[in-house]
Amino acid sequence: MQNKGYNHRTVIITGANSGIGKAAAHRFADEGYTVIMACRSRNRSLPVLDSVKAKSKNDRVYLMELDTSSFKSIRSFASEYTDTIGTLDVLIHNAAYFEHGSGYKLSTDGIELTFATNVAGPWLLTMELRELLKKSPDARVLHAGSNIIKHFFNPKVEIDLDRVLPSTANIPEFRVYDAYRDSKMALLMLTIHMADEFKEDDISINMLQINGATISKETLRKFSPRYRFAARIQNLFFKPPEFMAGLYYNICTAENFKGVTGKLINHKLEVMIPEPENPGALEQLRQLTGAGHYPRYAQNKEMTDKLIELCAHLTSEEPQTKL
Ligand SMILES: NC(=O)c1ccc[n+]([C@@H]2O[C@H](COP(=O)([O-])OP(=O)(O)OC[C@H]3O[C@@H](n4cnc5c(N)ncnc54)[C@H](OP(=O)(O)O)[C@@H]3O)[C@@H](O)[C@H]2O)c1
Repeated sequence: MQNKGYNHRTVIITGANSGIGKAAAHRFADEGYTVIMACRSRNRSLPVLDSVKAKSKNDRVYLMELDTSSFKSIRSFASEYTDTIGTLDVLIHNAAYFEHGSGYKLSTDGIELTFATNVAGPWLLTMELRELLKKSPDARVLHAGSNIIKHFFNPKVEIDLDRVLPSTANIPEFRVYDAYRDSKMALLMLTIHMADEFKEDDISINMLQINGATISKETLRKFSPRYRFAARIQNLFFKPPEFMAGLYYNICTAENFKGVTGKLINHKLEVMIPEPENPGALEQLRQLTGAGHYPRYAQNKEMTDKLIELCAHLTSEEPQTKL
């Protein structure tokens, strides 16, 4: 598709070299946006950059290096971005770590890799780019969420912050699946909290609940054989990444989402609401199979405050190893 003319708006998409992020880069470029593909591997991302530019005939597509698990990389990306591009309307936190079946891994800052990549990193990146976003007449931030948060409909499931640092983690019992589940709930809590905080700056921040998109061969290779088998079966039923990329585009550009903030939005582009208090058996079944509600746990103020404090503490410029 040829691009539809200069759009005047700029978007950053993290992890834009594969899957939904790559499809989103194509979509925004086709629509004439200035697109910044924020990716950690220059070599692996260059062919994608070339393809996005060639297919869209849009020359304002750029590749910038960003490792969302590394606070140094985030700060240097934000500073270079501010100096060179200097304007930002849409920030899409698409990158995530989910190598299901892998062991306990640490980021370069000594933090469990899932939390660093999927929670603390995105939080820091938004904070670092807040001043630029403030200047946009219609600033929108989007987090990539997941159906996996449905586990929190079970009142016994809670975010385990002990695993974030190796000094408190139960490493032999560690499962990336659980860390990923918690990271997506944590990101929803941050979405709700930050939306309130950012109202004074007119910055909207929402989350898309992704209920499945075909997982690429490269990503499947990172899973353990058991998870790879399950994901291959799921892939038979999942929609292509272009479908979710279309939802990213809609939430970040459509007039009807202007001013909408602090919301979890489903694959039908409906705003989801927290589950009712004391749901009956039928309602519980509806929550699990439907896409209208999210777990009340997302509104847990005590955990939200702990998360904000932890993100601020871990990403502060002083080296931090424990609270
Ligand atoms: N596909 C699904 O069924 C599904 C379901 C629910 C939620 N989601 C969410 O949707 C989003 C996109 O997933 P996807 O299916 O498109 O997966 P994907 O194809 O594996 O893409 C993930 C992207 O994140 C990047 N990434 C990972 N760690 C990074 C880091 N430290 N710094 C920078 N980039 C990093 C990867 O880069 P590399 O190529 O360098 O590894 C890759 O580009 C994720 O947030 C995921 O949690 C997906």
